[in-house]
Amino acid sequence: MIVLDQENKVFTLHTQNTTYQMKADSHRVLLHTYYGPRIGGGDLSRLIRYADRGFSPNPAEAGDDRTYSLDVLPQEYSGGGGGDFRLSAIQAELADGSQVVDLRFTGAEVRRGKYALKGLPAFFAGEEEAETLAVFLEDAVSHLRVELLYGVLEGCDLIARAVRVVNLGAEPVRLRQVASLCLDFQYAGLDLVTFDGRHAMERCPTRAPVRPGVQGVGSVRGASSHQHNPFVVLCEQDAGEDHGLCYGAMLLYSGNFKAEVERSQFDGVRLVMGIHPQHFCWTLEPGASFTAPEAALVCSPDGLGQMSRRFHRAIRAHLLRDPLEGRRKPVLINSWEAAYFGFDSEKLVRLAKEAAALGVELFVLDDGWFGERNDDRRGLGDWWVNEEKLPGGLEPLVERIRALGMEFGIWVEPEMVNEDSRLYREHPDWALVPAGRMPTRGRSQLVLDFSRAEVRDHIYEALRPVLSCPGLSYVKWDMNRSLTEVWSAALPPERQGEVYHRFVLGVYDLLERVRRDFPHLLVEGCCGGGGRFDGGMLYHTPQIWCSDNTDAVDRLRIQYGTSFCYPPCTMGAHVSKVPNEQTGRTVSLDTRGIVAMSGAFGYEMDLGELDGEEKEQVKEQTAFYMEHFELIQQGDHYRLSDPFQDGPYTAWAHVSPDGREALVCVVTGCVHAAAPFRALRLKGLDPRASYRVNGGEERWPGDVLMAAGYPLPMSMGDYRSMRLYLEAE
Ligand code: DGJ
Repeated sequence: MIVLDQENKVFTLHTQNTTYQMKADSHRVLLHTYYGPRIGGGDLSRLIRYADRGFSPNPAEAGDDRTYSLDVLPQEYSGGGGGDFRLSAIQAELADGSQVVDLRFTGAEVRRGKYALKGLPAFFAGEEEAETLAVFLEDAVSHLRVELLYGVLEGCDLIARAVRVVNLGAEPVRLRQVASLCLDFQYAGLDLVTFDGRHAMERCPTRAPVRPGVQGVGSVRGASSHQHNPFVVLCEQDAGEDHGLCYGAMLLYSGNFKAEVERSQFDGVRLVMGIHPQHFCWTLEPGASFTAPEAALVCSPDGLGQMSRRFHRAIRAHLLRDPLEGRRKPVLINSWEAAYFGFDSEKLVRLAKEAAALGVELFVLDDGWFGERNDDRRGLGDWWVNEEKLPGGLEPLVERIRALGMEFGIWVEPEMVNEDSRLYREHPDWALVPAGRMPTRGRSQLVLDFSRAEVRDHIYEALRPVLSCPGLSYVKWDMNRSLTEVWSAALPPERQGEVYHRFVLGVYDLLERVRRDFPHLLVEGCCGGGGRFDGGMLYHTPQIWCSDNTDAVDRLRIQYGTSFCYPPCTMGAHVSKVPNEQTGRTVSLDTRGIVAMSGAFGYEMDLGELDGEEKEQVKEQTAFYMEHFELIQQGDHYRLSDPFQDGPYTAWAHVSPDGREALVCVVTGCVHAAAPFRALRLKGLDPRASYRVNGGEERWPGDVLMAAGYPLPMSMGDYRSMRLYLEAE
């Protein structure tokens, strides 16, 4: 619910359990007055204190009032170049070279439904499910207008935000930064949690108290990156899974981003998040507008677990555009770790046959099926079938796979080109690199200039026959290097600062075309695993290959970190062979199954190499996953331990929204002799219900399971696993 008090210029956003408020004061400065647990409302500007602070200057309108300073006040969207020395949300270079943006309130209105953003990913909602608040600010000299949009998804406790800048002046303006989100807290005592890592070890949480000055994370790699995720948390310093005030902020963007937090001299905290200003410069001609990507906020008064579950529900219901529309996703087998580039139709059909016999439903042909792609040094860009490997093209292969009762999926990497390819030989100028420079290579490949429509059109037309292949139901969309030497032959020098962003818009454009023309295709995102795991991609690809690391023990950490924002159904997770290709570790098939099953489940190995007993296990795993798909994919996710603590076990649970059904998963750590007894306290159950365990005779009361816990058996051997399926009677 949005309460618009036009007289006092107080604007209050209520979700079911949270309240957010801003107020335009007598100088028409838009102050941020509150974000936290739901409260009645009223004018909360009384929370703001004023004092004469040295070296915090006063705007002209304040006259002799030295207690009024933008440097101290909590603001909704900070300008730049004036009297606020903290992080700016917007930076612009005006026609006269000055860099002052002084934003003052000019109006506000409420609209039914949730706003949408042209060409950019955004949460969506029905007219009845959401409302939009639009607040208008303007710089009186340049006539730069900033529209702050707030989409209130009341039932999900999520507030989406977007920013549109319009040049109402007569001169062009160069935008150097347009943040999607600015959030001020008057009081410190907060921790910042970021999700960091590297290729094959993504989204490991890092938590530290917000210290004086600026700290943050970002990416200038052209993709949101393996190294830092565009999702951060600010929380009370004693906040844990189940207690403490937590704020999560996600950016729905897949390119360069920056999330910075500043603790001010008076212990206020400001979070600013949006496109990374490095390399960014957007020229806004008179009358033109620029829209920054969407950001979304969740506040949880009861810990990180509740914050995550709120994001999960909102993402599942209002961000993922799943072509299966709630129907169960097929269990898949992917050819990559089973065959790499070394296959022909016969080998693929054999892999598929083995998998189909064990209950696997979708065969995904990964890299290596096109052009001269016999290794990762050539062929990208040549999207015609390599008939030496697949005689007669894709169709005969697809027919044979379909005859096994399986669906068929295929891998593509549309944004890339190898120098050793027909495409590059014909269009060397389509790769990103300034004339006269040698391009930096990544995995022996270059990046296509997706800011150019003709390049995208060409790739789309080349891919169209593949996407049109009868029987195709799934596409894995990969991207295997970072962007360098970013320069477009199609733009003038003064517009080169737009290329990174135009590239991302180009990727979204192509994905949208695929969706429009092939609405039945389930597209999985991938960027060398999880290098572009963000809300922007999720809008287009409702699941993303979580990491190139398929080791079950490492996956415990990767999937745990990923779960702080993103729900399990978005995380592609496969059982692969042992010893694992990335770590050399051998983990039981049971454990590999339990871990992979907590995501979008599949296999990535030659199942024909398993012995009879293992094959029976695979049959049991696929059947179990199919039976409990809804619980795993749509249930509430509870983290029951932190795998980064190297404790005796890692545990998590998928619980139905009414708490009457739960799947509890436990993977033990590295065991030690004469281990102490342990009990695992469960969460989210119905305290009054009695639960039947694993379909057997055992019964446990919900309150006991949550208050005292379920006694864990002693484990022999490292990384063993246990599954408890609980049903209330
Ligand atoms: C990187 C992906 O993450 C892998 O799963 C696989 O698809 C390879 N690319 C293929 O080149």
